[in-house]
Amino acid sequence: MRHLKALNKYFIKYKWLLLLGVLFVTLTNVFSVIQPRYIREAIDFAFQKKQEYDAQLNVEAKDTIVNTLTRGLLFIVLYYVGFTVLRGLFMFLMRQTIIVMSRHVEYDQKNELYAHYQKLTPAFYKKNNTGDLMSRVAEDVGRVRQYVGPAVMYFLNLVVTFILVIGVMIHISPTLTLYVLLPLPILSISIYYVNNIIQKKSELIQAQLSNLTSIAQETFSGIRVIKAYAQEKNTENYFEENCEEYKNRSLSLSKVDAMFQPLMILLIGLSTLITILVGGIEVMHGNITPGNVAEFMIYVNMLTWPVTSLGWVASIIQRAAASQKRINEFLDTKPDIETPFKTNYSINGNITFKNVSFTYPDTGVEALKNISFEIRSGEKIAIIGRTGSGKTTIADLLVRMYDPTEGEIYIDDIELKKYNLENMRSQVSYVPQDVFLFGDSIKNNIAFSNTSTSLETVKQYAQFASIDEEIEQFKDQYETIVGERGVTLSGGQKQRISIARAFLKNAPIIILDDCLSAVDANTEKSILANMRNYLQNKTAIIITHRIFSLLEFDKIIVLDGHSVAEIGTHRELMEHRGVYYDIFETQQAEESA
Ligand SMILES: Nc1ncnc2c1ncn2[C@@H]1O[C@H](COP(=O)(O)OP(=O)(O)O)[C@@H](O)[C@H]1O
Ligand SMILES: [Mg+2]
Repeated sequence: MRHLKALNKYFIKYKWLLLLGVLFVTLTNVFSVIQPRYIREAIDFAFQKKQEYDAQLNVEAKDTIVNTLTRGLLFIVLYYVGFTVLRGLFMFLMRQTIIVMSRHVEYDQKNELYAHYQKLTPAFYKKNNTGDLMSRVAEDVGRVRQYVGPAVMYFLNLVVTFILVIGVMIHISPTLTLYVLLPLPILSISIYYVNNIIQKKSELIQAQLSNLTSIAQETFSGIRVIKAYAQEKNTENYFEENCEEYKNRSLSLSKVDAMFQPLMILLIGLSTLITILVGGIEVMHGNITPGNVAEFMIYVNMLTWPVTSLGWVASIIQRAAASQKRINEFLDTKPDIETPFKTNYSINGNITFKNVSFTYPDTGVEALKNISFEIRSGEKIAIIGRTGSGKTTIADLLVRMYDPTEGEIYIDDIELKKYNLENMRSQVSYVPQDVFLFGDSIKNNIAFSNTSTSLETVKQYAQFASIDEEIEQFKDQYETIVGERGVTLSGGQKQRISIARAFLKNAPIIILDDCLSAVDANTEKSILANMRNYLQNKTAIIITHRIFSLLEFDKIIVLDGHSVAEIGTHRELMEHRGVYYDIFETQQAEESA
């Protein structure tokens, strides 16, 4: 239960809805409890008039008795209907307050979680799988809502009903009350247990269902591989096995479900039977009237739903507590990157790495060892090195996806950590190695940093990235939707759209991580030529494992074995005949081959 304390802030925020809810629950119950009295009055009134009628010999007097009876019953019916309407009205208002409150809480909580997700760093996303993250926003919040809404409502209802109904029952006959209530705790406890079994089984089914979904998903996305290897039969069998398991789990739930209803009816029936039996004896003793017995039966029925809900409420609370615990743990996760500084600086573009080392926290791989270099504002530099030498890591450190394990990074002589993170990132254009496009129009993907950019400007940057002609060949041109629900782009097209996106951001520092790898040599040349003009006043870091002879880099940083092997211009490095020379020679050999 202590995990659910985190929700108190929401109950305080929506206290008026909650308090109104309590009022409406009470009013609903008051009008429910009044009703059986009228049934009793009707029955007792009828009995009484019947006796008078039988005792009366005068025919006219007999007629009067019948008339009084009819009029009396009619009034009772009118009262009854009136209270039913009132009760219905308040029941409507009760749901309108408490269930509405729970929807507000759900909305707030989802937004709170989402905002926190955005604060966390890539390291967090590496540790947790996407399915878990999604289920926290969807399922866990949903379960908590079940507690905030239905569970709270039914629990309030339970308390109020119990106080009112049992109060009235004891007032009529304490003995009968005692007997009639005996089976109810058994009902409640068994419902709690059965409900828990049902929940567990449902979860197993849910897990298997998501298994099935991911199998299907993987098959669909890998359909070409499956066909090429003629593995249709095998994947089909695999799916069938999992389907079988899903069926078995579902059938096992159905069995429990099927037993649940009869059990409830049996226990409720038992209470009714006891009412008739013990009530009958009490009537014989003259302690109560036949009307009381009928009244009692209605009270017993009024209690059964809250008692049934007790077991149900208990298991909802249990599940909500487990979900809230996961939510709390998540909200307590602090981002690895701390950003206590709020000062904004306008970046010039000098970059310094001073003895920077970095070890990936999850794998313990030392990706960078004692890296030092300096870049002056406006310089164009290249970072080159074999796959796995740490190039991407340098770029990630520069935009603070991670912080260095040792050493410092400076932009314009201010340590990177001193920058307001958002402000710093807004001044760096970064095209990551694994390009990502949103399932949106090409225009919106390119204008991601500033959605109000005009189409003209978007076109201009598309041209810089040599993708404009291809975009114009699509039927919808810049409105073409990319991704799953849209056109499939080639790797090179995606890369160039990402480059256009980074160019459009127009930041003083630009980092391109291996983003020409899927582009053919000619296109590469024209992009680089555009870049020379476009990047004139910008500090540019181009990460690659190919050497562009076209762009005269001011400096080339050569990485080898996670540390800096050489730094210099193309000519210097060629003369030095070190790692760079080797890479260059290999590349030349490959190209001529
Ligand atoms: N997110 C990560 N978690 C753990 N290890 C990583 C991660 N990314 C890269 N590495 C490791 O760090 C080293 C450097 O990787 P990376 O910077 O991607 O090299 P490059 O970009 O030069 O190919 C490699 O050994 C790689 O396996
Ligand atoms: Mg890389």
